[in-house]
Amino acid sequence: MATLNGNYRKLQAGYLFPEIGKRTKEFVTKNPDALIMRLGIGDTSEPLAPSVIAGLHDSVDRLSKAETYSGYCDDGVGTPELREALAARYASYGVNIKVDEVFVGDGAKGDSANIQSLFGESNVVAVQDPAYPVYVDSNVIAGKTGEGSDGQYDGLFYMLCVEENDFFPKTPSEKVDLIYLCSPNNPTGAVATLHQLKAFVDYARENKAVIIFDSAYASYISDPRLPRTIYEVEGAKECAIEINSFSKEAGFTGVRLGWTIVPKNLRCEDAEPGELNNMWSRRQNTFFNGASNVVQPGGLAVLSEQGQAECKKTIDYYMANARRIKNGLEGLGITCFGGVNAPYIWMRTPGGISSWEFFDKLLNETHVVGTPGSGFGPGGEGYFRLSAFGHEKDIARAVESIQDNLKL
Ligand code: MLT
Repeated sequence: MATLNGNYRKLQAGYLFPEIGKRTKEFVTKNPDALIMRLGIGDTSEPLAPSVIAGLHDSVDRLSKAETYSGYCDDGVGTPELREALAARYASYGVNIKVDEVFVGDGAKGDSANIQSLFGESNVVAVQDPAYPVYVDSNVIAGKTGEGSDGQYDGLFYMLCVEENDFFPKTPSEKVDLIYLCSPNNPTGAVATLHQLKAFVDYARENKAVIIFDSAYASYISDPRLPRTIYEVEGAKECAIEINSFSKEAGFTGVRLGWTIVPKNLRCEDAEPGELNNMWSRRQNTFFNGASNVVQPGGLAVLSEQGQAECKKTIDYYMANARRIKNGLEGLGITCFGGVNAPYIWMRTPGGISSWEFFDKLLNETHVVGTPGSGFGPGGEGYFRLSAFGHEKDIARAVESIQDNLKL
C-alpha cells in the first residue's frame, strides 16, 4: 500500500505566486476591461542581450550537425568552460574558488530547495523572516520541521528582519545548524554588509553550522563596499554554500541556468572536508543530467566582457524602474525600503492594514498587482513588495495609477 509524504499536508498555503495569479485572474474575470499592471513576481521582461542570443544560437546550430552534436554532458555538473568562467568571476572578487567547487544547475530555485537534502532530518533550520518561501517549504516537505500554524512551523528558527535591525538579523540566540541568508534580500531589498556577514560566518564556524547563502541578486549591487559573495568573508569557505543564478542578472528566468558553490573545505559536525562537495556531486549526478547544452553557452556569453556590459545596461534599466517606484511612493508619504542595491521595493502598508488587504486595495483601486509581505512569512505582515522588473512604460503607468487612484 502506497502512502503519501504527509509533510506536504503541513504546508499552510498554496505557493505564493500561483496564489497571486489566481486572485488576479478572478479580478480580471470580474473586470474584463481593467488594464492590469504586474509588479508582483520578480520576473524579468527585457529581451536577452545580443551576445547572449548569439551564444544560444550557436549552441542550437551545433546540434544540427553530426560533427558538432553533443548529448549528455560528461557529468551532471556543468561544462568545464562554464565552470571555469564562474570560478574566474569569483577570482575577480578576490576570492579563490576552484572549478570542482562550482556546480552548474538549472537555476537557484531548484538548488535552494534541494540543498537541504545534504543534511539530516534533525538539523535545526534558521530562516530570515520574511524569506523567499522555497527555503521554508523545502524543509517542511523534507520533514525538518514540525507542524505549522499562523504562518510558522514548529522547530524552525525565525530570524526576524524588521525596520529596527535594517532588515538583517543578529546571529541566532540559540544553537541552529542550517542558516539561510539571502543578500541582496528577496523580499526586503536589504543588503548585508561585510561586517554583518562576518558575524554569521563566525557563528557558523563556532557552532559547526552551515550557511546557505542565496546571492541571486548580487549583480544589482552598485555600492562597491557591499559584498557580492559571502566568500569575501574570511573563513566562509569552511561554513557556507552559495547559490546564484543567471535569472535576474541576464534575464534567464525562463531559460533556466544557475550555479552552486560547495567548497571542498566545507565542514559540519560529522563531515570531513570534501565530503559535502562529493555528496552534492553525487546528488546532482543521480537526480539530474545537467543543465541544457543549449543553455550553458548562453551562460558563458553572459560572463564574457561584452555580455557583462550588455547585461549591466538591462540591470541599470530595472534599477531606474526601482527609483521611479520608490520616488513615486515616497512622494505619497509611503515608507519604503530597498530599491537601491536590489530590484525590490519593500513598502509599509499605508494605515497599517494587512498585506493581503493592501493587495486587494491596490488591485481594486489602481489595477496594480504586487506581492503581500505576509506571503514571505509572518515577519512580512504589514509590508508589501513591488518588483522593478517590468517594462519602463508599464512601471511608469503603474506609478501614475497609484498616485492618481490609491485612496490613502
Ligand atoms: C520572486 O518574485 O520572489 C522571484 O521571482 C521568485 C523566484 O525567483 O523564483
